Amino acid sequence: MSNYQELFDNNKKWVESIIAKDATFFERLSKFQSPDFLYIGCSDSRVPANEIMGLEPGEVFVHRNVANLVVSIDLNVMSVINYAVAQLKVKHIIVCGHYNCGGVKAAMEPKDLGILNPWLRNIRDVYRLHNAELSAIADEHARYNRLVELNVQEQCVNVIKTAVVQKSYAQNRYPVVHGWVFDLETGYIKDLEIDFDEKLKDIQQIYNLTGGQY
Ligand code: CO
Repeated sequence: MSNYQELFDNNKKWVESIIAKDATFFERLSKFQSPDFLYIGCSDSRVPANEIMGLEPGEVFVHRNVANLVVSIDLNVMSVINYAVAQLKVKHIIVCGHYNCGGVKAAMEPKDLGILNPWLRNIRDVYRLHNAELSAIADEHARYNRLVELNVQEQCVNVIKTAVVQKSYAQNRYPVVHGWVFDLETGYIKDLEIDFDEKLKDIQQIYNLTGGQY
């Protein structure tokens, strides 16, 4: 357990350890960023984006919110996706959920959760969309894990629905969208192996936004 003042001590040690290995690291870091990856994950403190992927500062653009949701009227996540694709030209977009996600758990409970209701509604919608599959899973924990995976899958679909992703992919063949689940019990990432081309084709039957101005 850290106390507040320790954060500055930690920061000092971190800077010193980096400079000891690479004296011009921060000088280079301050000039520009050119990450290949956009990571959209949960705010959960147990799933730190850079660490689980072994990436350094400058290597991944990160957005986190409760239960890693991609909501079309959320200006925050939409700005992140637009900037990452149109300006940074990321090659991969990763939506990473995690088992034992409190947000997903809360959405499974038949309860009024106040200000969280409209946010968690997005997960309840995922449940409704996949009700047949989920209801057939008798074990509650297995059902919870599957909802975590299906939520990631649907958020990937939401990324694919955006004009900026569709247009960039039509022109450049990137970014490709990936769905992952982080397993808190093992530390390993599970790739859901979402077939990006197939999902894009499906989506574009209804949500094709490649026409018009970039
Ligand atoms: Co979570």
